[in-house]
Amino acid sequence: MDIAALRRERERWLEWKNIAPLRRLLETLPSVEAELVIGDVVQIVGEMGEEGERRIWETAWAMRPWRKGPFQLFGTFIDSEWRSFIKYRILSPFLDLEGKRVADVGCNNGYYMFRFLEQRPERVVGFDPSPLFKTQFDLINFYARTDLHYELLGVEHLPFYGELFDTIFCLGVIYHRSDPVATLKGLRKALKRGGELFLDSLYIPGEEPIALCPGESYSKISNIHFVPTIAALENWAKKAGFSHVQVLATRETDSSEQRRTEWITGESLEDFLDPEDPTKTVEGYPAPRRVYLRLKER
Ligand SMILES: C[S@@+](CC[C@H](N)C(=O)[O-])C[C@H]1O[C@@H](n2cnc3c(N)ncnc32)[C@H](O)[C@@H]1O
Repeated sequence: MDIAALRRERERWLEWKNIAPLRRLLETLPSVEAELVIGDVVQIVGEMGEEGERRIWETAWAMRPWRKGPFQLFGTFIDSEWRSFIKYRILSPFLDLEGKRVADVGCNNGYYMFRFLEQRPERVVGFDPSPLFKTQFDLINFYARTDLHYELLGVEHLPFYGELFDTIFCLGVIYHRSDPVATLKGLRKALKRGGELFLDSLYIPGEEPIALCPGESYSKISNIHFVPTIAALENWAKKAGFSHVQVLATRETDSSEQRRTEWITGESLEDFLDPEDPTKTVEGYPAPRRVYLRLKER
């Protein structure tokens, strides 16, 4: 696979008619000195005049929906649908990224990539084939001026990327894949010897190693292929060649983590659950809950 050719081809996605106007807004933003302050809210702090504040708000607003965050961009608070710090707080006690080469696969707008900088990794590469989320990342990074690297590539390209990583994050992606075992194998191949993969997945309760294969949608999300039990997920990991599989935590998704805000355009968790019985999705499946895992080859 010719990654350089694919990268060039995907750069052109930034010219799509829904994306090009956003890129133009980005290009004309005032360039000022600013400081990146990393915390649960990823902040860009600095002096920005009234006109600049207005243009930043307009630019960020035009880039909706903001799924991941939150971000404070000068005077603009981007209250994303997900409070991503809840997931990050679960994972952070297990992380040791100093001097490491790190990949975030399905990085969205890079919220976690900015958080990783707290730990002084050597290099961070984000992979996500969404030109909108890359444009959101570019907005934050225009002022943060980090050397975080964003590729418009997917998890399927990792084995051909030509670079190995000490730590890979693949969060909220596996249930979107039609072949989860092959996806995990590809991730394993992109790890250095002794490297580790942090994974989170939706799961269904139960002891048996089985997976739900939803019909048209799960929780109104149409591209979900499999929602496994934890036992099934562990078996997928073993089949993919990971001999160490550690369950770090589980959590039910609630409205403190995912909710409708003005920074998204459609529905959120409250619309995805059965109003009569919030332990079920509107389709009648078990309500969303997530498991967090650390996988190692040996
Ligand atoms: C549910 S979100 C998870 C975002 C983030 N990792 C998190 O856990 O909060 C799924 C992300 O995967 C991205 N995505 C879609 N197709 C992908 C692919 N083939 N490879 C990697 N990421 C993909 C989407 O654009 C989206 O940002």
